[in-house]
Amino acid sequence: MNVAIIPAAGSGTRLGGSIAKQFLPLAGIPIIFHTLQRFETCPEIDAIAVALPISDIVEFGEEITRRDFQKPFHLVPGGKERSDSILNALEAVAGLLPEIVVVHDAVRPFVTTTQISAVIARASEVGAAILALPSTDTIKEVENGMIMRTLNRRRIYRAQTPQAFRYDLLLKANESARADFVPSEWMTDDSLLVERLGAQIAIVEGSPNNIKITTPEDLQLAEKIISPF
Ligand code: CTP
Ligand code: MG
Repeated sequence: MNVAIIPAAGSGTRLGGSIAKQFLPLAGIPIIFHTLQRFETCPEIDAIAVALPISDIVEFGEEITRRDFQKPFHLVPGGKERSDSILNALEAVAGLLPEIVVVHDAVRPFVTTTQISAVIARASEVGAAILALPSTDTIKEVENGMIMRTLNRRRIYRAQTPQAFRYDLLLKANESARADFVPSEWMTDDSLLVERLGAQIAIVEGSPNNIKITTPEDLQLAEKIISPF
């Protein structure tokens, strides 16, 4: 049993507006349904857990039925930070005894089923695997407006989602981070919690199209990616 965990409980402050970005239309369909469709069609995914603002859960459940999704859905209340939403979802699916969990942002609608399958396959071998993109820019570490050092570009990757883990490993990583009082707002991705345990995490090469819709410009770019002409 492999379970997708889709955090969708954020309020989209950087994008602004009164509707959270995951519910905004992209080519006429709410962004989150583009994303969920990729998991619905990925053969390695058996169930999908979505973390949502608590006030949206009932209506979202009706919408899932209306749109004729076939896989079992588990709608869970989100938490204060993204990592709190992930932990709520992890705990909510414990009864399914998942082997692999795949975490993917609701606001990355261009992930492909091939990419989802690839991170699951690597996580089954290694324990953890994430989609990441080699950096094309040279990255500088800066303090107070001054360069401290230059990182070796060949070793720099930009982390994306999906990120797949053996269920027990990701749960243990979350419990350990909380036991050590790591602030949840520092937990900007899931693999960093697993890194803290010293476990191996493989890289699967991602694609530049797999953008996270964060700003109004990203939303414009997403419309271009979906209909280039
Ligand atoms: N997310 C979540 N629970 C939170 C915060 C974020 O489930 N408490 C989700 C978002 O809905 C999004 C994903 O995590 O799908 C990535 O987060 P981000 O891009 O930061 O979205 P927001 O937190 O909504 O945006 P912002 O940081 O600009 O407020
Ligand atoms: Mg955020």
